[in-house]
Amino acid sequence: MAESVVMMDESGEQNPYLLGVYAPVQDEVTADELTVIGRIPADLNGVYLRNGPNARYPMKGRYHWFDGDGMVHAVHFENGRARYRNRWIRTRAFEAESAAGRSLWTGVMENPEGNPFGNARGLPYKDTANTDVIFHRGKVLAAWYLCGTPYSLDPLSLETLGVDTFLDTLDGDFMAHPKVDERTGELFWFDYGPRPPYLRYGVVGRSGAVEHCVELDLPGARLPHDMAITENHAILMDLPLYQDLDAARQGRYKLTFDRELPARFGVIPRRGHQVRWFEARPCYIYHVVNAWEEGEEIVMDVCRVSRPAPHGGGSPLTRMIAYLKLDARMYRYRFDLRTGRTSEEYVDGDHNTEFPSIDARSTGHRTRYAYNVSVADAETNLFDGLVRYDNVTGTKETYSYGPGVYGSEAPFAPRDGSTGEDDGYLVTFATDSAAGRSEVQILDASRISDGPVARVLLPQRVPLGFHATWVRAEQLR
Ligand SMILES: [Fe+2]
Repeated sequence: MAESVVMMDESGEQNPYLLGVYAPVQDEVTADELTVIGRIPADLNGVYLRNGPNARYPMKGRYHWFDGDGMVHAVHFENGRARYRNRWIRTRAFEAESAAGRSLWTGVMENPEGNPFGNARGLPYKDTANTDVIFHRGKVLAAWYLCGTPYSLDPLSLETLGVDTFLDTLDGDFMAHPKVDERTGELFWFDYGPRPPYLRYGVVGRSGAVEHCVELDLPGARLPHDMAITENHAILMDLPLYQDLDAARQGRYKLTFDRELPARFGVIPRRGHQVRWFEARPCYIYHVVNAWEEGEEIVMDVCRVSRPAPHGGGSPLTRMIAYLKLDARMYRYRFDLRTGRTSEEYVDGDHNTEFPSIDARSTGHRTRYAYNVSVADAETNLFDGLVRYDNVTGTKETYSYGPGVYGSEAPFAPRDGSTGEDDGYLVTFATDSAAGRSEVQILDASRISDGPVARVLLPQRVPLGFHATWVRAEQLR
């Protein structure tokens, strides 16, 4: 099925992130009668939700993949049946543009002067809520990487319920990847920005309110993307990648990676005020796999990027494409709380893997398995398979979608009565780039190399996107 090429920005350039497998879809679909190849396991009950950018109107100026309006695609599994639906997130900016019938914001590749409004800190970009979906206290929160307002969604209807300010206690903004400790019901988050305080760290307690919030001192503005928790601590990052201030003064968005600075990891007691910084070799990190405590040591597994800033010039579009190319390796840090020393090593120095997921019930506690996506060797960001890492045996198992088929983040979905971190399934969207069609694939988490146990064909293509989560049926009640 050939798709017509729609120029979704004003630049006139062929932006690959608006074409083919990335092209936005314009319909909001609800579909109950879906064709299944194989058999949906009867003990797979819950919802797979995936967020991502999906531009509604042609962008003012150049389009960056991170600019698209947040759209959630979800598949609800119940007693061997599947239902699909997709909805845009009704952010304040989305509603303002809907009322105007056109794009009102420029994105991160343009001078943002004149944009209608920004986030709570005054960063003048459009909060699209397009980055992650997190389940907490019965609701799904959609969150944005530059820090914005969390938007609450109904996990089944995908209706936007409104901004969630945690019983009116959220003061400021909220990052894309907060951590939920299911054992305590707490949610841990941070907020960062270009002006002091450069980093704030907070905890939403079981009450549903922000119960703890502290400002952390950084040497300058940073671009942290993720954090970690352990049983007693939170871990925040000060990585030597930051916005070029000279360029920023000229209204341009440019990043600098300073190899002379260490990477620093701040370990803070969960409800504490005092940070201990651990230094390590310079790098950038998008995503943490998990962290936990082993005696007096903190272990943190991440997908580490050793060269985050590509060299060379070219047009802004060329530079965006170069920056978006993920090149990460599974990597382990150990922070020794007695000596203050860091040790670091590759878990897998060969395979470019990212978008990690674990059994979410064990966030902050020792995990054996990590389920990452395999990043294709291609010009744009494509996931060509899945990799399962085993911490105990030090081995990995892989699954490839096959030529021209690309997946999404694949969270672990425990089966009903699951007793372990691989006692369940991995669920992901897979899109055939030649056919322009998408499906859901369900894999047995303990044997991913066997391929899908079931495939559910979808009524429309699901554009490639960002983060996903799994909500168990028991959490929906
Ligand atoms: Fe992310």
